[in-house]
Amino acid sequence: MAKVWVEKLFDEPEIYILRIDDDMTRFFEAVWEIPEGITYNAYLLRTRGETILFDTCKGEYSEDFLKALSSLIDPKTITHVVVHHAEPDHSGALPKVLEANEYRAKIWCTPLTKKLLEAFYDIKGDLKSIEDKEEVKIGELKLKFICTPWLHWPDTMITYIPENGIIFGCDVGGGYSIPEDIDETKEKDIDRYFRYVTKYIVTVIGHYRKYIPENFEKLKNLGVLDNLKVLLPGHGLVWRKEPLKLLEHYAKVALGEKTKDKFLIVYDSMYGFVDKMINIAIDELKANGIEPVVYAFTDKSAPPLSDVLTDIPDSSAIIFGFSTYEAGLHPTARYLLSEIVDKANYEKPALALGSFGWAGALKRELQRLSKELKINIIEAIEVSGRPKAEDERRIRESVKKLIQLSL
Ligand code: FEO
Repeated sequence: MAKVWVEKLFDEPEIYILRIDDDMTRFFEAVWEIPEGITYNAYLLRTRGETILFDTCKGEYSEDFLKALSSLIDPKTITHVVVHHAEPDHSGALPKVLEANEYRAKIWCTPLTKKLLEAFYDIKGDLKSIEDKEEVKIGELKLKFICTPWLHWPDTMITYIPENGIIFGCDVGGGYSIPEDIDETKEKDIDRYFRYVTKYIVTVIGHYRKYIPENFEKLKNLGVLDNLKVLLPGHGLVWRKEPLKLLEHYAKVALGEKTKDKFLIVYDSMYGFVDKMINIAIDELKANGIEPVVYAFTDKSAPPLSDVLTDIPDSSAIIFGFSTYEAGLHPTARYLLSEIVDKANYEKPALALGSFGWAGALKRELQRLSKELKINIIEAIEVSGRPKAEDERRIRESVKKLIQLSL
């Protein structure tokens, strides 16, 4: 049984959080390693005889969710359900909730969410397709539905309450992990939490990250950001003191704002030859006062790819090391590069080092990728077997050049 939080967040307007702590999912979307877990946050709002539920949670927690919901209200008394996004981590418990509600509630969502809900669950009930920026008066409150396409699917919207400066963000503002408390004011290590937010952005929204500044611009033009006081996301911490701080972090990750002297090294090494090349590069970086972040894929280690991707947006430069495998790149390198192109394709200077047995593949493979890879490989050095004295000199020279370009 999952831990479920049911807490009142505000008296006026009367808002509760229902948070499911999921420490069972090891691979979010069946791919991203999340030993830190994830939460699914839904919210309940009561206003003059009307009760609005915002989102639900993953389907496997339907019973836990209904139990928590029933501790607050009789589900039959829910008059409105807002579905911001059809992805099942937020909509999975919806069929059970509607069943318990006896399909009395109006369901508000975008036309695409409606289509997806029907496809996923054969949802019955009073589904209302909203229009972008549509305002609805419910009880004493005016709710404004604002479409935020591609954050994270094309169907996505948020709900804004202008009078109180509150956003129900769903994926907008989300982060991985199971925080020890509900809101950011009680988070002891906000930098650590921001890393989980970065990881969430890169792995989940990364492919669509150009829509982050686009949607933020839209919210700014609508006056939402200037008036923002509270951000209630669908994952992770609630932001009720400095919500803009979180959105600024989102924008930084989307734009790939670099951290000074953050050098990321990612490499695979089957028999230690690439390892020797990388160690020369590390030695040169250290001689220049730079301590890199290193991920090594070897016969003894396989770090999570989600961590590697997390370290890309704010890096100032990258050094890759790839061994040659069957006249191509190592399978790990192939997967890594394809996921970088898909999720973390930032314009960063980089150096590529490689080792081969009888025929090199590094330059050819990088050339093949160059059309889609935004990372700018300033030099690719590949050697047969171990690096020799001349190779060492070239690696050191290239690292120095990379340091200059990273500034
Ligand atoms: Fe948290 Fe796109 O779902």
